[in-house]
Amino acid sequence: MSLEKKYAKEIKQILAKYPPEHKRSAVMPLLYLAQREAGYINKEAMKEIAHLLDITETDVASIVGFYTLYHDRKAGKYRMQVCTDLPCALRGADEFLDKLCGNLGIKVGETTEDGLVTVESVMCLAACDRAPMFQTQGPDGIKYHEYMTVDRTMELIEALKGVKE
Ligand code: FES
Repeated sequence: MSLEKKYAKEIKQILAKYPPEHKRSAVMPLLYLAQREAGYINKEAMKEIAHLLDITETDVASIVGFYTLYHDRKAGKYRMQVCTDLPCALRGADEFLDKLCGNLGIKVGETTEDGLVTVESVMCLAACDRAPMFQTQGPDGIKYHEYMTVDRTMELIEALKGVKE
């Protein structure tokens, strides 16, 4: 079902907060609304949001691509977002990411077979001096993990298996 049909009331309330000439500012709350159910924003929803706000689909997609809290694809129960931006790379983030993915038997962007973890590479998460670092996004919210090793990360993943929703 389309966003406009399903969330007509919420969309009206969101748009009412902005003057018509600045309605493009409603893009963030609309994306949040679109992401609420499935945990990601599909192409159809991006198209609808672009139409609602008189902006291009590329504008919407670039916002989704820029922010680590918006997602354009389905993922596992937990997204593990490893920062590989330059300062973290200088502290071994790439090697950390490679080893971690190797241990999990997946490539960057993929999800473990049990659907528990998707490993992603992201840009600066503002903990540049504490790499290797990543954030997890899951049912229990967003958490930062700093000064990580692959062994400690594997332990963390084991512990996530026991987390109840
Ligand atoms: S560069 Fe990795 S947190 Fe800033």
